[in-house]
Amino acid sequence: MMQADVVVIGSGIAGLSFALKAAKYGTVALITKKSRPDSSTNYAQGGIAAVFADDDSPALHMEDTLVAGAGLCHPDAVDVLVREGPERVRELIELGVAFTRAGEDLSLGLEGGHSRRRIVRADDLTGREIERALLAAAAETGNVRVFENHQAVDLLTATDPGTLGERCCGVLVLDAETGELLPFLARAVMLATGGCGQVYRHTTNPAIATGDGVAMAYRAGAKVANMEFIQFHPTALYPARDRTFLISEAVRGEGAVLRRRDGTPFMQDYHPLASLAPRDVVARAIDREMKESGDAFVLLDCSGIAEHEIRERFPNILRETSERGIDMLREPLPVVPAAHYLCGGVLTDTDGRTSVPGLYAAGETACTGVHGANRLASNSLLEAVVFAHRAAARLGPQLSVTRPLTPEHVHAPTGTTDVDPAFLTEERESIRNLMWDLVGIVRSDARLAEAELRLRAISLKVNAVWADCRPTDDLVELRNLVQTALLIVRCALRRKESRGLNYNLDNPYKDNEHSLRDTIVVR
Ligand code: FAD
Ligand code: SIN
Repeated sequence: MMQADVVVIGSGIAGLSFALKAAKYGTVALITKKSRPDSSTNYAQGGIAAVFADDDSPALHMEDTLVAGAGLCHPDAVDVLVREGPERVRELIELGVAFTRAGEDLSLGLEGGHSRRRIVRADDLTGREIERALLAAAAETGNVRVFENHQAVDLLTATDPGTLGERCCGVLVLDAETGELLPFLARAVMLATGGCGQVYRHTTNPAIATGDGVAMAYRAGAKVANMEFIQFHPTALYPARDRTFLISEAVRGEGAVLRRRDGTPFMQDYHPLASLAPRDVVARAIDREMKESGDAFVLLDCSGIAEHEIRERFPNILRETSERGIDMLREPLPVVPAAHYLCGGVLTDTDGRTSVPGLYAAGETACTGVHGANRLASNSLLEAVVFAHRAAARLGPQLSVTRPLTPEHVHAPTGTTDVDPAFLTEERESIRNLMWDLVGIVRSDARLAEAELRLRAISLKVNAVWADCRPTDDLVELRNLVQTALLIVRCALRRKESRGLNYNLDNPYKDNEHSLRDTIVVR
């Protein structure tokens, strides 16, 4: 058994930001299921949105965020995001993050849905630079102990003698190297496990994004919200090799234009902002163009951006496309939409508290209310630092007066049989394929119902294997993937309208009378 004042699950921007601040108040055990930098954070390209330009203001950032969110953002959370964001970005700079400069000032990029230049960036590798600096800072802090290759399996709860209600008091962890299951006990737990893109066949997300945090929180009785709002990024490079490579929206921000394969631009037929329309509009338009033409991709024409600008601004994209045999300086890039971001998640207040006492959530796993039905580009790194900071500020002073609890029962899996690797691969692929085919950019009631039926059947099989077999990292993920997929489908079935990222052919309009609220599910 391990013990710390706080257990943090996840070593992306949310988990590390929180851990660094919580460490001022007590001991922190940070567990992460692969190596330290394995996270979506490490792949973030475009940047982190915050108000720095003279012609910008928090009010404008708020307005853009609310417009993208299509009526479902929580205004109090957005207000916190845009007002506290610049201070958190300054802290990242103090920590050593080398954002790109234009002279003395930050070099600010533009992305879809933003009315001003406000994307603070480190070339086109913003996430890698942030992750580098946060990991370096965590290594210097004596109070954060990092456990790599340790995968959270289930949250632990106990009855709080003060309230007689359940409180989260730790997490059951699988040590992937030894196969051992270890309870990590703490006064509070921070869930910062990132998103769930791996639920879909095509995704920009790295392999770690399997929805573990949402699934664990749901099983522990936490409120989960808005899982129907999965953001598809419009421009992933086609064809995908092992992992889809993202072509940052910032490329369109600098002037690249979406075209059909015959060279005609099409986005002006869908939105006045054309190629820089909000992401949901662009992804749906590409989906429609591809379905109507039968083409496997559309083109992103970068010829409007000067060569030196591409070299300076997008060195990583230039290198990666060139390694894949495409010369973006001379020819258009073939692109397709891919699952990118989870707007919903574990419901929190503006201090990161979930509905389960003792359990906090931040980053992509959390639903703070800032994204509503569609996230504004580059608001997620910002959300992670802003709300991780607030959670640490809320929890820290309480740590010394919070009694550690011991769970009465640790429901560790007890199976002893070895799991069949073919079962794991087949069921994982079934989930990813059916989610892509039936629960993608354009949905219908019949397709959602079929998806639910098929997912339930998979879930029954997975539960049976879970009861019989020794847990492995892949089995833990499969259990969470099917749970998360079911939550997405259940939320999509509940929303009888089309809004933001949830587009349903059977309910093609917004229903402000009945549906202007979060979709909340509890176990
Ligand atoms: P992550 O960074 O994904 O970290 C999650 C951590 O949890 C990882 O360490 C993981 O290993 C760990 N973990 C997961 N499950 C478990 C478990 N069961 N046990 C233990 N550990 C676990 N957003 C922007 O704002 N701007 C951008 O420019 C941008 N570009 C992007 C480009 C790409 C290609 C991608 C994929 C995303 C991009 N995003 C961008 C989104 C943004 O990167 C993520 O939303 C954000 O980094 C999430 O941070 P996080 O800390 O919540 O999760
Ligand atoms: C991108 O660079 O296009 C990704 C930005 C984001 O997901 O916010």
